[in-house]
Amino acid sequence: MFHVFVLFCLCWWRLIGVFGVSVTQGDSVTLHTGVTEIREDDDILWKFGAEKSQIAKMKKKKQIFSTYNGPDGRFRDRLKLDNQTGSLTITNITTQHAGVYQLEIAGAKKSSKTFSVSVYARLSVPVISSNSSNCSSSSSQQNCSLLCSVVNVGHVTLSWYKGNSLLSSISVSDLSISLSLPLEVEYQDKNTYSCVLNNPISNQTTHLDISRLCHTCSVPPGSVSLIVLISAAAAAGSLLIVATVVIFCICRKCQTKRKDRTHSALSKGGGSKSSSRKKKSMDEHMYGNITPKR
Ligand SMILES: *[C@@H]1O[C@H](CO)[C@@H](O)[C@H](O)[C@H]1NC(C)=O
Ligand SMILES: *[C@@H]1O[C@H](CO)[C@@H](O)[C@H](O)[C@H]1NC(C)=O
Ligand SMILES: *[C@@H]1O[C@H](CO)[C@@H](O)[C@H](O)[C@H]1NC(C)=O
Ligand SMILES: *[C@@H]1O[C@H](CO)[C@@H](O)[C@H](O)[C@H]1NC(C)=O
Ligand SMILES: *[C@@H]1O[C@H](CO)[C@@H](O)[C@H](O)[C@H]1NC(C)=O
Ligand SMILES: *[C@@H]1O[C@H](CO)[C@@H](O)[C@H](O)[C@H]1NC(C)=O
Repeated sequence: MFHVFVLFCLCWWRLIGVFGVSVTQGDSVTLHTGVTEIREDDDILWKFGAEKSQIAKMKKKKQIFSTYNGPDGRFRDRLKLDNQTGSLTITNITTQHAGVYQLEIAGAKKSSKTFSVSVYARLSVPVISSNSSNCSSSSSQQNCSLLCSVVNVGHVTLSWYKGNSLLSSISVSDLSISLSLPLEVEYQDKNTYSCVLNNPISNQTTHLDISRLCHTCSVPPGSVSLIVLISAAAAAGSLLIVATVVIFCICRKCQTKRKDRTHSALSKGGGSKSSSRKKKSMDEHMYGNITPKR
């Protein structure tokens, strides 16, 4: 029975006592006291975290308006205290400043207020890429495979929308290096598609440009002949190289042969210029050795 009562009280306290505040990293947030003007004899105290470190103090009567750097200096140059309302502004907030902030007003009447501040990362713009530059194998002829990706995310959902209707989505709760979501569209598709990255407080959208991303994979009849042409040109090119090399080799071979023969022919006391005549002269010499001919 007691437990139920405690639970009820906690819930009640949470319901009325804690104000949830969500901020994007780098932004400023103001925690409002809710009063338009602090009374002369009211003292204001702002505390942060479980340790309830004092981060700001205001005693209007004594003209004391102070802010502190906090337990480890994390609030240095980031706090502003409104001397009229006592509201506290945290500038250029980071995840270090997420947590519970407590306001205490002491004066004729005592009151307190608790804020729970959540800090979300600034969302990057999702990037849509085509993963079918490699179209022959992975995708069909009519479909274009796309991938929407984001890096360094936490507590986000990545979704594909067709017009206003959700097609698919993926969520991560903890910090993740990267996140991606595929989509298949037809090349002729005239619908508008968009990839949306969102966290509880903001979103970033990238619209799909099918004509820009999918053109590489659409293969109209004209490009087939172009491919054939390019292949033919490449084949012709390699053929030319092979032919050149072969010719070069042949030339070198006959040149060295000719040198050899000229050499041997010279040693035997004779020489000629053309190879056909060379052979003839060789024969002549051979015959000449046996039966000299004049
Ligand atoms: C409150 O702050 C404003 C500007 O920051 C200053 O002009 C004004 O004198 C301050 N009032 C008091 C009572 O300190
Ligand atoms: C905001 O805080 C970050 C991290 O502490 C710092 O690097 C950056 O310079 C600050 N920006 C401004 C405008 O103060
Ligand atoms: C094409 O995709 C397949 C499988 O998705 C992959 O194994 C291959 O390396 C890719 N080829 C090129 C040229 O990207
Ligand atoms: C393209 O994306 C689809 C869907 O995620 C995947 O099945 C396919 O393997 C991917 N192809 C390449 C080449 O990455
Ligand atoms: C092509 O994409 C559509 C959705 O855009 C899908 O319904 C269809 O099954 C896909 N076809 C192939 C062959 O992948
Ligand atoms: C994105 O945020 C805008 C306001 O900033 C909101 O109007 C819109 O509905 C949001 N879109 C999605 C898909 O959450």
